[in-house]
Amino acid sequence: MGEKQHIMIVEDSEITLYKLKAILIRLGYAVTAYDRPGTALEWLKEKNEIPDLIISDVVMPGMDGFAFIKQIRSDEKTKQIPVILLTSQTDLKDKVAGLEAGADDYLSKTVSPTELELRVKALLTRSQSENISLSQSASKTFTVFSLRGGVGTTSIAVNLSIAISQLLGIETCLWDMALSSSQCALMLNLKPKNTPVSLAEWPETAIEESLLRTMILDHETGIKLLPAPQFFEEADLINKQIIDLVWPPLQMIAPYIIVDAGNHFTDPVISILERSDAILLLLAPELASVNAAYQAVRIFEEMGFDRKKILPVVNEIFPRSSLTTEKIAEGLKMEIFAIIPFDTINFVRAINQGIPYLMLAPKSSVSTSISKMAYKLTAARKED
Ligand SMILES: Nc1ncnc2c1ncn2[C@@H]1O[C@H](COP(=O)(O)OP(=O)(O)O)[C@@H](O)[C@H]1O
Ligand SMILES: [Mg+2]
Repeated sequence: MGEKQHIMIVEDSEITLYKLKAILIRLGYAVTAYDRPGTALEWLKEKNEIPDLIISDVVMPGMDGFAFIKQIRSDEKTKQIPVILLTSQTDLKDKVAGLEAGADDYLSKTVSPTELELRVKALLTRSQSENISLSQSASKTFTVFSLRGGVGTTSIAVNLSIAISQLLGIETCLWDMALSSSQCALMLNLKPKNTPVSLAEWPETAIEESLLRTMILDHETGIKLLPAPQFFEEADLINKQIIDLVWPPLQMIAPYIIVDAGNHFTDPVISILERSDAILLLLAPELASVNAAYQAVRIFEEMGFDRKKILPVVNEIFPRSSLTTEKIAEGLKMEIFAIIPFDTINFVRAINQGIPYLMLAPKSSVSTSISKMAYKLTAARKED
């Protein structure tokens, strides 16, 4: 995204804060400052973004620097952020306590601008190389599916990809497999050139990552789109063999893959559902849709899918519903993973302007629910 790297400073002494801020801003970093750990933690909880680095004082009102770091380390969302502790004197006892709490480095409050620059750069490079190794391991795949059309499968897949990308500050790949009504490119205002249909009748059993990259389109939000074939007649050409060709190199493109699997049980879709880490089963709060979801769960179980990876998501595509979430959960005999509220105005605007919903109305309750879902998915699934 080419943005400035973001450093958060937590420091109650105005003089130290002023000095650090001046140096870091001159070095080209974006800086946010807090005089209390409590307010810094609130910011970290609420925002979709996390800073690249935190510099924190030890002695502060309300909570000391050690307790502050412990809180950061205990939250899945913030635990990876490198932290530098500021000490007034080089007290060994403080250093040990800080390291035990999870600090990455120490700096004296009297640090010189040059030393500050070196230490900050060293920590930022270290945490970036850790991010790169993340993208080289196998990706997580979340597939959005429904047996019924028009319940928001594409809307959720597109905006969930953006939400994950923003939350973790990484690239995500959106794979359009809703072949009979592919609309991801339209929602993102991107024009596909090459698509996986060019792999039909491929004579070999593997393709190069560079070939797959010729099909991928970059969007300004940090997501990458692997588009569906442009013509409806080409949909049938995307078979399971193509999925097998695409799957291995796709893992190299982004650490998270979100699939819009549309609303048909075709062989290629089933082979993606089988390999997915989670299936977001989308439904609207009305009987026909709940029944379709029930049927889908039954088929997933017959196919031997782990029930834990099926996550029902209720999307309120109309203003009022007689079906409560409790009733839906009861009917499905499953817990509802997320609820997306109703908002036609911005969905229609988003489509008409070719701007993703999450960009157009980032503060709406729909965007908040999608971001929460992104958080729940990535936090819960890092463990296994
Ligand atoms: N939460 C919502 N509130 C209001 N309208 C929605 C919501 N989610 C989706 N829509 C609208 O419902 C329609 C179908 O959405 P779409 O994502 O194309 O569904 P699908 O891919 O399942 O066919 C679109 O016009 C979309 O703007
Ligand atoms: Mg769709």
